Amino acid sequence: MYLGIDLGTSEVKVLLLADDGQAVGHARAPLTVSRPAPRWAEQDPLDWWRGTLEALAALRVAHPLEYGAVRAIGLSGQMHGPVLLGRDDRVLRPAVLWNDMRSAAECALLAQRLGTSPLGGSVPMPGFSAPILMWIAAHEPAVFKALECVVLPKDYLRLQLTGERATDPSDAAGTLWLDVARRTWSDLLLEASGMSHNQVPPVLDGNAPAGFLRPSVAAELGLTPGIVVATGGGDNAASAVGVGAAERGDAFLSLGTSGVLSVIDDRFDPCPSTATHAFCHAIPARWLRVSVLLSAASCLRWVCKLTSTVEATLLQEVAALDARALEAAPIFLPYLSGERTPHNDAYAEGVFFGLTHQTDRARLAYAVLEGVAFGAADGLLALRESGVDMPESLSLIGGGARSPLWAQLVTDVLRLPVSVHLGGEAAAALGAARLGWLATGAPPAGVLTKPRVLASCEPDDARFAVLDERLQRYRALYHHVRPLFA
Ligand code: XUL
Repeated sequence: MYLGIDLGTSEVKVLLLADDGQAVGHARAPLTVSRPAPRWAEQDPLDWWRGTLEALAALRVAHPLEYGAVRAIGLSGQMHGPVLLGRDDRVLRPAVLWNDMRSAAECALLAQRLGTSPLGGSVPMPGFSAPILMWIAAHEPAVFKALECVVLPKDYLRLQLTGERATDPSDAAGTLWLDVARRTWSDLLLEASGMSHNQVPPVLDGNAPAGFLRPSVAAELGLTPGIVVATGGGDNAASAVGVGAAERGDAFLSLGTSGVLSVIDDRFDPCPSTATHAFCHAIPARWLRVSVLLSAASCLRWVCKLTSTVEATLLQEVAALDARALEAAPIFLPYLSGERTPHNDAYAEGVFFGLTHQTDRARLAYAVLEGVAFGAADGLLALRESGVDMPESLSLIGGGARSPLWAQLVTDVLRLPVSVHLGGEAAAALGAARLGWLATGAPPAGVLTKPRVLASCEPDDARFAVLDERLQRYRALYHHVRPLFA
């Protein structure tokens, strides 16, 4: 039995994986994001650990026998948000998250220093660790002075579990300090943001053992002391492991808090000018070409909150809208926390355009689902412009994969066949468990399989004609309103 822990932004998910590769149970615990100022987003690493304990306690109660038989743990987590450790691994301040836009000025400075260097795989964007550390150095010098080591979110959980500081190449690629081709820290990149080599942890392969469960923690969790804890991966790379995306051209779209389109590559071939990222995969010798929409399923949660409706009801109401109602729905720009691909615009904001007396909550919700699908279409275009071959099909994963309506909409907008896999909504947790499994020495071929397809969607060309007209308006809308963003 293997345990996967996925530290998301809205929740911690934990999953038990049996030796036959089947998931036998999962549990979750919610997390909240604190927003101390507009466009800021923070979480306290201690809340991540509390959430992990809560989710594990629920898993243990639901599956006591299987839980007790866990022999390895793997990790996945939201990327980028640096955890600042001081002496004795004390956390110096809350983690500034991947969707925090405060470091736009530091990004501009870093871009000037680095020129067009493709070394780090991305242009500097707010939410990456390097500009966040520059912001902290400038605004909180006492914190920066006390800094001993930066780890990434899932690495903080591993630190709690094993006492070891480490990270893996997939997560390290989101710092802008990694030489992403070589998978080692780059002194040039570290120095460009005022950091040094001794402030970052060792980089170990995602599927490698990174430590062993501390006896005191094992006793608290009800797990066997000394079991292996894999290094794990950033959430998108761990999801790739979960959905069996390991070969060049394999592609998937994750509709979680963020919306991320990833295509697997077998070499480092970045094109930072398109605002796409080249990250390392969590397994050796593979990379991810990535486009990122900073708000995806979080837009659906937002519109549910706004209309005081639960998601299932709102989705049913959307499903009941006829074609004419959809054509008259508003257009939505999903930039609730700024935007990365393709605009790299920290100041972008969400927009509803085209409200009338007919606009009700169902049409607003439709516009939100469609706007996120349009954002993914922009991401796909940016990836193609950066030299990525058009994938033949996509796997849809993350919370958004639970909605057949959204899956079909994405299929029609992207004009690609889309598959939903068994357990796809928890692909990152599954990938984490699989990384734990690999760390025990299991042969990769038996682990990196594609889970059973539950549903396949085929693009509807007639629908695309209507959607394409709306997509063009969506694109024009951003260009029209951009000068008005603060
Ligand atoms: C990827 C990214 C997000 C976060 C949170 O670059 O910022 O996908 O990892 O999910």
